[in-house]
Amino acid sequence: MLDLTTIRNELEVAYDLSPNPDLAEQMGDIYGRIEASVTPFDFAKFAPYIAAINALKSERNAVILAHNYMTPEIYHGVADVVGDSLQLAVEATRVQADVIVQCGVHFMAETSKVLNPAKTVLIPDMEAGCSLAESITPAGIAEMRARYPGAPVVSYVNTTAEVKAASDICCTSSNAAQIVAGLPNDTVIMTPDKYLAQNVAKQVPHKRIVWWDGACIVHEQYTAQDLREFRSWNPGTRIIAHPECPPEVIAEADFSGSTAGIIDYVAKEQPAKAMLVTECSMASNIAEANPAVDFVGPCNMCPYMKKITLEKILWTLHTMQTPVEVDASVAEGARNAVQRMIDLSRKLAA
Ligand code: 13P
Ligand code: SF4
Repeated sequence: MLDLTTIRNELEVAYDLSPNPDLAEQMGDIYGRIEASVTPFDFAKFAPYIAAINALKSERNAVILAHNYMTPEIYHGVADVVGDSLQLAVEATRVQADVIVQCGVHFMAETSKVLNPAKTVLIPDMEAGCSLAESITPAGIAEMRARYPGAPVVSYVNTTAEVKAASDICCTSSNAAQIVAGLPNDTVIMTPDKYLAQNVAKQVPHKRIVWWDGACIVHEQYTAQDLREFRSWNPGTRIIAHPECPPEVIAEADFSGSTAGIIDYVAKEQPAKAMLVTECSMASNIAEANPAVDFVGPCNMCPYMKKITLEKILWTLHTMQTPVEVDASVAEGARNAVQRMIDLSRKLAA
């Protein structure tokens, strides 16, 4: 586990990280994008970290790939590329810089390493896990194969490299239905997210989808009753849900899509009121780009994503800790499963 006191002591020696309102003032362009969710007082605290991280990125020839669930000061302050899991995986294959700092969870950093093994891939906190990735091992994949002989295994990218290597192909929330529909088999095994699988089963009714019993701790908390009540108290709210939510929640929603799908939908539709049934940072990150949209309703925080902070990003770039390594034989199998997904999604989109 990272010792924050040690990290702070190390950083204090090398940088002046005291709150700096003058520096914050000079970063008006960044603040303009996050002022709806970050107070000037907090931004004065973030500004020295943002300046130090952006300077170190050039020094180390590093790029920051950040998931849409990162906090606004990371998303708008230091990220070079932001996106959903599929976009980040595709971007990882294109990185020319020597170092990738993955601001997201561990399976995302592993995916970047697997797709671009010559790069140093750093994750600011190794303990940024995922309830889905933790729910299944290669033994679970073998169990499903034994139960459904001959059926291909489609594993969500929210899995370890070992699980990917034991699977036939990966999927993300933005291409799961197309991948499953694009396979020639009548029975398809989906792991580890039972809700994503059940939502895909509705979209691909001519196939038999069987699933592993995993769930995302952020999205499984929403209930259809919550959504119905919220809509009755706030008529006219457009409800937009991530496909990791249970099917009865998706049935109550006006739209369901990956985090990038949600961003595109809001940008295009411009609903007067929108409830994003997903992780909390999403609404904060897109508020400035959509000033006509009032983001309403409760949201749930992902404790794993929230392990990534400006302080840990600076520490990671300063110390070049902690690199993500994937055993070569596992990496090859995982790369094949992810690459098959990228190739099949491109083919189906063409
Ligand atoms: P997407 O960004 O691919 O929709 O995934 C959401 C998620 O839960 C990542 O952990
Ligand atoms: Fe995993 Fe859910 Fe957190 Fe995404 S939001 S990292 S699926 S626990």
